[in-house]
Amino acid sequence: MADVITKLKRDDDKAWFNVEWSDGYKARFPYVFLFDNCRCPKCFHPNSYQRSVLMANIDPDIRPAGHEIIEGGKVIQVTWPNGNVSPYPAKWLKMHQFGKKPYDPLESLEIKSWGKEKQQDIPTFNYKEVMEDNKVLYEWLVKLLTDGITLIKRTPGVEGVVAKLHERVSWTRRTIYGEIFNVITMYDACSLAYTAKQLGLHVDLPGFYQTPGVQMLHCIKQVDSEGGDNEFVDGLRVAEQLEQEYPKIFQRLTTMKVDFRTLGAEFVPYHTMTQRPVIEYDRNGVFQGINYNDGVRAPYWSLPVEEITEGYRAMKTFHRAMYDKRNCIYYKMEKGDMVIFDNRRVLHGRLGFEVHVKEGEESKTRHLEGGYLDWDGIKSKMRLLHEEIHGLERF
Ligand code: OGA
Ligand code: ZN
Repeated sequence: MADVITKLKRDDDKAWFNVEWSDGYKARFPYVFLFDNCRCPKCFHPNSYQRSVLMANIDPDIRPAGHEIIEGGKVIQVTWPNGNVSPYPAKWLKMHQFGKKPYDPLESLEIKSWGKEKQQDIPTFNYKEVMEDNKVLYEWLVKLLTDGITLIKRTPGVEGVVAKLHERVSWTRRTIYGEIFNVITMYDACSLAYTAKQLGLHVDLPGFYQTPGVQMLHCIKQVDSEGGDNEFVDGLRVAEQLEQEYPKIFQRLTTMKVDFRTLGAEFVPYHTMTQRPVIEYDRNGVFQGINYNDGVRAPYWSLPVEEITEGYRAMKTFHRAMYDKRNCIYYKMEKGDMVIFDNRRVLHGRLGFEVHVKEGEESKTRHLEGGYLDWDGIKSKMRLLHEEIHGLERF
């Protein structure tokens, strides 16, 4: 009953239709929008959900040649000067609320920063359930989006789990480390990660224009002795604190561009370079992520020499804030654990450990396998799952 249109009135001054439903709901539909979104098979390709009409054939000043309510109000039909007759279901029209509702169902998920209390409360999921139950898969991805850090436990603890999770979620993200990388100790390491040294809090690959959105680290073997623990901090919380407590430093960290580079060779030779602020917001003030990694901070600055010392001072303040007791958490993975975190928002590090590797050799005294995902793929999967779970219609 609610999807029945009772009134359809032209307003040629405004170039829109005033439409009213039997339940009192009212909406306005610009003529050009309706022309552009004709659902007939000539204008719209239903298999691909894509429009075949080109902008070349769209006239922003178009006026309908005729209009009527048909099928007892379930559909309105508009005739255009080119003779095309376009039906618009009342239900379809009601789904369009210009400028009012976010069309992305993920927009209503609330992103909340966290501090040290997260240590006791890392959202934790069971591998088998994530792999077999779509509802659990969705719940896990929601937590990854809102909290930026999650833990999956009881994996088989062998190589191949990251690839299986890749496949479960979306397409993979290839980088200079390949699709899957193995964090083991190598004599000729191409990254500090492949040594036994401590890794300070960092995001991976800030020297890429498209830094990977999400990182997975899966523990196949953990060191028996001291060390090898991971540390994590929510960069969003650090940014919020600095804005409150050190506004001038915050201003510098959000505007000063720091140079990053990755240089070397693994299965391809590479040399990537970027210049990015440590704390990144978009033009609308929406937090985009953190660009910080001492290892790949370039040994040069593109800034004037007068700005360098202040630049270091600002980064030092940022560094202190990351390691502030209010913020930093620790977790020592064991075989069968996997941490999955937002690589743009949550910084990760590792405590050093003891292992001796001879020239030309490598050691699996500690062995993690890792991989990346991008948010395009993750969010795409989340929308499909949301649709499946809530039975929403596409339009
Ligand atoms: C990495 C990394 C952490 C670890 O490979 O990028 O940060 O625990 N590894 O080895
Ligand atoms: Zn890393």
